Amino acid sequence: MKFFSSSTQTIPDSGEIPNHIAVIMDGNGRWARKRFLPRIAGHKRGVETVREVVKQCALMNVKFLTLFAFSSENWRRPDDEVSFLMGLFMDALKREVVKLHDNNIRLILIGDRSRFNAELIAQMEASEQLTANNTGLTLTIAANYGGRWDILQATNRMTNALPQKAGQYTEEDISPYLSMHYATEPDLFIRTGGEKRVSNFLLWQLAYTEFYFTDTLWPDFDAKAFNDAIQSYRQRERRFGRTSEQLTVVN
Ligand code: IPE
Ligand code: IPE
Ligand code: MG
Repeated sequence: MKFFSSSTQTIPDSGEIPNHIAVIMDGNGRWARKRFLPRIAGHKRGVETVREVVKQCALMNVKFLTLFAFSSENWRRPDDEVSFLMGLFMDALKREVVKLHDNNIRLILIGDRSRFNAELIAQMEASEQLTANNTGLTLTIAANYGGRWDILQATNRMTNALPQKAGQYTEEDISPYLSMHYATEPDLFIRTGGEKRVSNFLLWQLAYTEFYFTDTLWPDFDAKAFNDAIQSYRQRERRFGRTSEQLTVVN
């Protein structure tokens, strides 16, 4: 298995188009409330935006798109909203996986599956298996995911595997155990819905990611809004600890 190098250990290559985009899809509830609809109507409409953003990423040859669908803290929501979200997730998986497969998209689900029902777990596994050998965009959906959970589960598995290295672990030792070991670190992080926080998303992996926050609510985040985020990314100077002068030196 190939492991990608870490942005704190080596300077990654970065181009005009982000290789990996990570998104917190926020604002579904407010989108619905503005229309005097129940919050769940916003979640339903949000699935359309997922389709559009996946399409845009595939067109742009983005390699990895990672979407935060349900956080480890979202269980705190009212029971009926949680069960609606579970049902929506199940339906979307069933309905979309063949289309993803036809488009050469590899689907991977990250997060703690132990709280999901057996039927959903089986659907998750089947969807991953169907698309496992696809070579186009890798679409990762984070469900019951939390950044702290990820670091802890990786630490626990690493220390079990390498007890003799206690006190001397390196980034290389932990990286195979992190949920996103198969991907480069995100180049661009997008959060819709106006909040300016990370909400326990990819804490380890966002070390050198460019952040983009927009007030646009997720159901309104269309191709134009997505392109605005890409344009913003293209203006950034990614220094990875170096000075600006070092970047402009002609080799
Ligand atoms: C994001 O939209 C979707 C999930 C967290 C599942 P919200 O449901 O958080 O929408 P707002 O923030 O209440 O508008
Ligand atoms: C973050 O959104 C999680 C997802 C988008 C799945 P929230 O709307 O739950 O975040 P907080 O709680 O407002 O930070
Ligand atoms: Mg929210």
